[in-house]
Amino acid sequence: MPTLDKNINDLKVLISEEEIQKKLVELAKSIENVFPKDEVIYVICVLKGSTMFTVDLVKHFNNPIQMEFIRISSYGHEQKSSNNLQAIDLTLPNLHEKNVLIVEDIIDTGLTARFLTDLFKIKHHPKKLVFTSLLNKKCARQIEIEPDFYGFEIDDKFVVGYGLDYKGYFRNLPYIGYFPQ
Ligand code: IMP
Repeated sequence: MPTLDKNINDLKVLISEEEIQKKLVELAKSIENVFPKDEVIYVICVLKGSTMFTVDLVKHFNNPIQMEFIRISSYGHEQKSSNNLQAIDLTLPNLHEKNVLIVEDIIDTGLTARFLTDLFKIKHHPKKLVFTSLLNKKCARQIEIEPDFYGFEIDDKFVVGYGLDYKGYFRNLPYIGYFPQ
C-alpha cells in the first residue's frame, strides 16, 4: 500500500461539490446537443480518475447510453506526466460508425488526450468522436490539443478528489481540492 505523506486536514477546496454538480447539468446538455437525438452514445470512462465524473454526467443524458471502461497507464504514483502511454485494459465493443464520448478527469500535458483520440480514430473509426474532461490545466499543455468540452479551467496545481488521486488516495472526496505548497 503506498504510504500517505499528505494530510486531509491540509487540503483546501478548489471546486466545491455544489459547483461540480451544477456544472455537470450544463455540460451534459451541451455534450448531448452535438450527438444525433435518440441515438446511442457509447460513453467511455477512462479509469480510474474519471469514474465519479462519468457516473454523475450520464445521469443527465436523455439519449440511450452504453457505458464502457478503459484503463491507461501513465502516472503511476508520481505527480508527473509520461509520454509512454499504454492502453492496459481495452475490451471495447465494435465502435465502428458509433457515437463515442470519451470522458477524462483532467487534461494536463495533453498526452493522454492525444493518445486516446488517436487510438479511437485509428482503431475504431467512430461516426462521431467527442472528448470531454472535467478539468483543463491549459497552462500545463505540452502538445496542442483541446477537449471538445470541459467543466473547469484550473491553474497548474496538483489536485485531488472527485475521482482524482494522490498515490491512490482521496478519490472519494465529493469536491476538488489541493495541498497548498
Ligand atoms: P496528461 O496526459 O498529462 O494530460 O495527464 C492526464 C492524466 O494525468 C489524468 O487523466 C490524471 O490521471 C493525471 N493527472 C494530471 N494532473 C493531475 C492532477 O492534478 N491530479 C491528479 N491526477 C492528475
